[in-house]
Amino acid sequence: MNPETAGHVFHAARDEFALWSARLWRPLGELLTAVSRPAPGERVFDACCGAGASALPAARAVGPGGVVDAVDAAAGLVADAARQAEAAGLAQARFHTGDVLTWDGGAEPYDVVQCGYGVFFFPDMDAGARALLRRLRPGGRFAVSSWLAGGMDRIVPVGHAAAVPERPELAHGQRPSASDRLNSEEKMRSWLLSLGLVDVEVHPVDYRFPLHPDDAWTFYLGAALRGFVQGLPPEALERVRARFEAGLREADLGTLDASSLVGTGRVPS
Ligand SMILES: C[S@@+](CC[C@H](N)C(=O)[O-])C[C@H]1O[C@@H](n2cnc3c(N)ncnc32)[C@H](O)[C@@H]1O
Repeated sequence: MNPETAGHVFHAARDEFALWSARLWRPLGELLTAVSRPAPGERVFDACCGAGASALPAARAVGPGGVVDAVDAAAGLVADAARQAEAAGLAQARFHTGDVLTWDGGAEPYDVVQCGYGVFFFPDMDAGARALLRRLRPGGRFAVSSWLAGGMDRIVPVGHAAAVPERPELAHGQRPSASDRLNSEEKMRSWLLSLGLVDVEVHPVDYRFPLHPDDAWTFYLGAALRGFVQGLPPEALERVRARFEAGLREADLGTLDASSLVGTGRVPS
């Protein structure tokens, strides 16, 4: 997805994304930060920060002597994150709307670069990750989270199939997601090593919970799936919703399996 489209889709998804923050994005953002382990006084770059799921815990960890620069293309999510940081008195967290691959702030190198569920949206995941790594000081830490196989990747095809009758142009099929290249411990480890990182670790996270059909639809509208239905009129949306819910029942998907991998490594000193 190009940054402009990602920003557009996730900005429009703002309200539904917020409904999923407490049960999905924030707990997983805390886990990313538990692995990246920002220390008091450190400088952190949070790429694809969304509504601040990992940037806010990072800001608490670095404390008032540190800095978190958090960047996302979706203006609405960035505004929600900035509001939460202000309410929590986290002046060290600075939120910016922009493309993380070209954002021209933060001239000084960072101790930590972290990216939760974002690298697979880059038009070229490897080139994008290398651009993020160039922001690190020698010896700095990179941490990334992505979905484990057999979880989120089961829902996306159901959401896609539900949208195709309204959007015939989607019928030529989905391109494989770059997240398929990171969806096992071994694949994520190899990818991090291919980027030249050392001290690589990959941590699996088991995270699943019941998915009520009403919640399934807010999930659709609050995530990248929304891109399939962006701009459709309400009656078409209702048809997509009905097909999506039927598809989930057929696939026996009564659980949202957001099981993940959190990987980390250091650029050499
Ligand atoms: C699935 S959300 C995750 C947000 C956040 N990291 C979290 O875990 O809650 C992915 C985010 O990546 C952002 N994104 C994707 N490509 C981007 C880019 N090139 N520059 C900035 N943001 C981008 C989207 O706008 C979206 O907010």
